[in-house]
Amino acid sequence: MTIPPHGHGTWEALIVYSGRLSHTVSERTDDGVAERHADLKVVDDWVLEHGDMVVMPPAEIHRFTALSSDTYVITIVGGKYKVNHHFFFRQSKRPT
Ligand SMILES: [Fe+2]
Repeated sequence: MTIPPHGHGTWEALIVYSGRLSHTVSERTDDGVAERHADLKVVDDWVLEHGDMVVMPPAEIHRFTALSSDTYVITIVGGKYKVNHHFFFRQSKRPT
């Protein structure tokens, strides 16, 4: 299972209870003006295992993928997600 890149608008702690998890942090490199388009650059990428924890600040974008069928995570969110928080899906190159 993969959760695509997304932001929350609030902090989130993620703890690996079991299994292994690929976790990637990205930053947005475009100016945010184009509707339904974003350029993301990976700034951190690592594998988390049982007992590992990350805390995502409100402005960060992260993505994660379970690397084994026994992967379970616990998340703690600092309040409600921002009403218009974003998910980023890969799309084929835009026509020119
Ligand atoms: Fe998240």
